Amino acid sequence: MKTHASKRDFLGFSHLDAGKIIELFDFSLFIKKQRQKAPAVEPYKPIAGKTVAMIFSKPSLRTRVSFEIGIHELGGYAINLEGKSIGVNSREAVEDIAQLLSRYNDAIVARLHEHSVIEALAKHASIPVVNALTDLSHPCQILADAFTLYEKGLWHSNIKVVFVGDGNNVANSWIELAGILPFHFVLACPERYMPDARILESARKNSSGSVEIIHDPMKAARDADVLYTDVWTSMGQEDKAEKRLDTFRAFQINSALLGAAKPSAVVMHCMPAHRGQEITSEVMDGPRSIIMDEAENRLHVQKALLVKLLNHEEYRKFHLTHRLQNVARKLKS
Ligand code: CP
Ligand code: NVA
Repeated sequence: MKTHASKRDFLGFSHLDAGKIIELFDFSLFIKKQRQKAPAVEPYKPIAGKTVAMIFSKPSLRTRVSFEIGIHELGGYAINLEGKSIGVNSREAVEDIAQLLSRYNDAIVARLHEHSVIEALAKHASIPVVNALTDLSHPCQILADAFTLYEKGLWHSNIKVVFVGDGNNVANSWIELAGILPFHFVLACPERYMPDARILESARKNSSGSVEIIHDPMKAARDADVLYTDVWTSMGQEDKAEKRLDTFRAFQINSALLGAAKPSAVVMHCMPAHRGQEITSEVMDGPRSIIMDEAENRLHVQKALLVKLLNHEEYRKFHLTHRLQNVARKLKS
């Protein structure tokens, strides 16, 4: 069986602290620069020879493409498995899938419905398991989003991030992050579309910033540094789409809402976007939108995460060198 001395999963942010997240961001910057320098520098292949099984039980464009390209660029090999064809918990029990894939592969990336299934996968796998979205959370997305703000120099402890829309998996991951990194997170959602109560409670308990839930989008947008949104109907909720369209109509990011935010505010959306619903084309394509940057950053951040999970020695080496270089720089100045 393939085993990793200290198997690390990435199902959410619970095993990370602020320092570890910033470390991951710094490594993501390095990974991104390496790619931009190609072909002038040697290809960086720290997971050469490793294979990653990817299970997708829901549709995907960004997650699937960015993981597959990322794994390839790092020297590894990705296998794409349709959830339906392997029959997670129908054709085969999740614990058997976990043990079997652990014999062949070095990691599992999974997009599943119930969060409990990815927890079971991680429990029974002897290799790292990465959450590529469940009904409960989407941590890879929020890692890339926060990194995007970090690399643009916009991240600071007073930053006000306002999520306008559904208290869904993406909102839950923002709230989870707010329990770890100090910042001001506001969710503006309709009253019956609240985020996960346990994630909210735990973030509020741990947070060194603040997490606010309000139901008036205009009030929420006031002085925002970031306006963020996601679809009103998530994958798996299609039968409720019509009702949701009605309920969420006032929760659209448009020029009027953007007008309430700071003049320097940026607009984010995890995509796929429904233009004319949760966001207007004018805002999505406008000068304040950093939506394509955050989508691109999925690639760089996930590559960094994979190196952390699959070649921790290399990851540590990078940070040690980085620290030594900083000390040398300080001594020189
Ligand atoms: N944002 C995101 O996860 O996109 P996909 O659903 O296309 O992977
Ligand atoms: N909340 C959305 C996110 C898509 C990336 C969904 O789950 O469909």
